Amino acid sequence: MIVARLSDEAWAALLALRSGEATAFDPGDDPAWAIYEPLARRRGGRFVLAQVGQSLDGRVATVDGDAAPISGPDGFVHLHRLRALADAVVVGAGCVVADDPRLTVREVKGPSPVRVVIDPNGRVPLDARCLSEAGRTILVRAEGSMAPTAVETIHLPPAGDGRLCAIALLAALSERGLHHVLVEGGAATIRNFLEAEVVDRLHICVAPLIIGSGAPGLSLAPISRLTEALRPKTRTVALGSDVLFDCAFERR
Ligand SMILES: NC(=O)c1ccc[n+]([C@@H]2O[C@H](COP(=O)([O-])OP(=O)(O)OC[C@H]3O[C@@H](n4cnc5c(N)ncnc54)[C@H](OP(=O)(O)O)[C@@H]3O)[C@@H](O)[C@H]2O)c1
Repeated sequence: MIVARLSDEAWAALLALRSGEATAFDPGDDPAWAIYEPLARRRGGRFVLAQVGQSLDGRVATVDGDAAPISGPDGFVHLHRLRALADAVVVGAGCVVADDPRLTVREVKGPSPVRVVIDPNGRVPLDARCLSEAGRTILVRAEGSMAPTAVETIHLPPAGDGRLCAIALLAALSERGLHHVLVEGGAATIRNFLEAEVVDRLHICVAPLIIGSGAPGLSLAPISRLTEALRPKTRTVALGSDVLFDCAFERR
């Protein structure tokens, strides 16, 4: 398995790419560069990376909702690197209600992304940390649903199945200058992005514990035959405490 190291110089070069500065950095053969470079480098278009931190048996929480921390220390640093390189981090209402995440960058040097909370019906409390703590947050609501005036809000029309369209959300974020997007979960939110075929990379970060039951990291519509399974081009990278599956999708 390829082992990722990431020197301070390489991280500084990635942050320079993120801010649009040219960099003459030579990454050598460290696979960490290839993990982060596509999210860091601004190419003038959209880039969407979804990430899941899960157990060996694909769970992200116990049946009682205990979810923190599933990732080991290196998986946690990996997540914070992704946040630092993204313009925006997207989560669903379920994740905020269950975990009350801050969605800021604390484990590495770098800027915190704009927080985007998909809460179509307004069930996230206003004192949730991602709404009440310092930093920009955008709420995503269904058209016709009331939103607090103090929080920047995008209203989207629900589709026939009641879901808000991931493509429309990405377009609304792009209009606000937010092109590189980290989709941090939970499973329902990642599913919407995967099913809309807008995910460029999926990072599944596996920590060596077995929970045995509880919420899944990923959940898609049932298929009958394995020929229908998604088969992204995947590289496996040892982060240290966790193993990363870096999956590349052909997107729409
Ligand atoms: N380990 C990890 O990487 C990680 C990361 C995040 C969360 N988690 C875990 O994941 C669990 C929560 O996951 P979850 O799947 O239940 O919830 P979720 O994806 O966080 O949120 C789902 C809810 O968000 C809203 N939503 C998201 N996308 C939508 C869309 N396109 N259109 C309409 N509504 C949308 C809906 O809210 P309404 O129900 O109000 O309609 C939906 O039910 C928790 O146990 C948490 O600990 C784990």
